[in-house]
Amino acid sequence: MLAGYGIVAVVVVVPFLLLLPLATGDDYIEPEDANTAGTYAVNSTFEANLDSLAAALIANASATPAGFATGTAGTAPDKVFAMALCRGDTNASSCGACARAAFVAGKQSNPGNKGVAVYKDACTIRYSGRQQFMNFIRQEQWQVSQIIWNIQRAATSVSGPAAGWFNASVTKILTALVEQAADAAGNSTTKKYFATGEEDFVPKIYGLAQCLPDLVKEQCHECLKSLHNSANLYMRDSLPKWIVTRSLWCSLWYSARKFYDGRSMLQLSAPPPPPPADTPVVTQPGEEKKKSTTTGLEGQRLSRLSIH
Ligand SMILES: *[C@@H]1O[C@H](CO)[C@@H](O)[C@H](O)[C@H]1NC(C)=O
Ligand SMILES: *[C@@H]1O[C@H](CO)[C@@H](O)[C@H](O)[C@H]1NC(C)=O
Ligand SMILES: *[C@@H]1O[C@H](CO)[C@@H](O)[C@H](O)[C@H]1NC(C)=O
Ligand SMILES: *[C@@H]1O[C@H](CO)[C@@H](O)[C@H](O)[C@H]1NC(C)=O
Ligand SMILES: *[C@@H]1O[C@H](CO)[C@@H](O)[C@H](O)[C@H]1NC(C)=O
Repeated sequence: MLAGYGIVAVVVVVPFLLLLPLATGDDYIEPEDANTAGTYAVNSTFEANLDSLAAALIANASATPAGFATGTAGTAPDKVFAMALCRGDTNASSCGACARAAFVAGKQSNPGNKGVAVYKDACTIRYSGRQQFMNFIRQEQWQVSQIIWNIQRAATSVSGPAAGWFNASVTKILTALVEQAADAAGNSTTKKYFATGEEDFVPKIYGLAQCLPDLVKEQCHECLKSLHNSANLYMRDSLPKWIVTRSLWCSLWYSARKFYDGRSMLQLSAPPPPPPADTPVVTQPGEEKKKSTTTGLEGQRLSRLSIH
């Protein structure tokens, strides 16, 4: 962690991404403060250390079930600390390709800066010459309030009569994903803290939660809850169609489009619609009471909202 940094929220609105099949984030690159991070020269020992460490982390992250690797290379003053973590659903080849591209993006976007974090859709990497940033997850240093997070969100929002229901549905799936991901701590096979889920709203809502495998369960839970709180800050006045909120240690996403590979680990029903104070409930004739009434009603409402 960068000592003394508080929460830094960065909002990047990327409207054209809504046209792409993956309704998620663009690359988000976060350099360390250039005054304290230090700089390196082209072809320096530091750069050689960074490149060899990056190559090892790319290979190791893509070869391990957790999609995670961390390590150091060289000796002071050219020592490099780095980590790479792939999204839990990626296979070895997309994990490796993402991590490789992320290290390249870090160097190209901040040439000579010794410390950069890069958040891509399918992976996160960080390197630093200044500090063993991984020490932040040691119990004596861990402070949730010091986690630096970033958020990206859709430029368009859900509004109209179904907005309250959409809001409640997003809350439900994110809450469930936080618990499910933290509970995955016990998975001795994958070592992953990872959960995906889909919810029977119309259209469906998809979500994903993930923590760094080296966290203990309590840290994973705290980290994800803090990201859920961060997302809530952007759901007060409007309801973005997707939000991606990330830190080095955990990430939490929802979207009205599926943005991960494989079967969803959680299958959730939509919550009951909020009380019909401002949204009179109309029953569709000939439909079953429970799920299909809900679906039919909201299907009408939401198609007018044109969420797709
Ligand atoms: C860095 O090394 C490469 C390969 O040896 C060389 O082609 C390039 O000119 C060097 N660049 C600098 C700035 O020294
Ligand atoms: C990569 O994995 C190899 C084999 O397990 C290990 O020896 C090496 O230390 C790892 N390197 C890094 C940087 O993770
Ligand atoms: C890995 O995942 C990517 C992205 O989903 C897919 O295009 C590719 O075919 C997969 N590769 C293998 C070997 O399964
Ligand atoms: C561990 O993960 C594997 C692969 O995703 C899954 O099949 C298995 O059910 C998980 N085990 C537990 C205890 O969650
Ligand atoms: C969404 O619900 C929360 C309470 O759960 C509320 O504070 C917030 O204002 C709602 N957002 C909108 C846009 O209605």
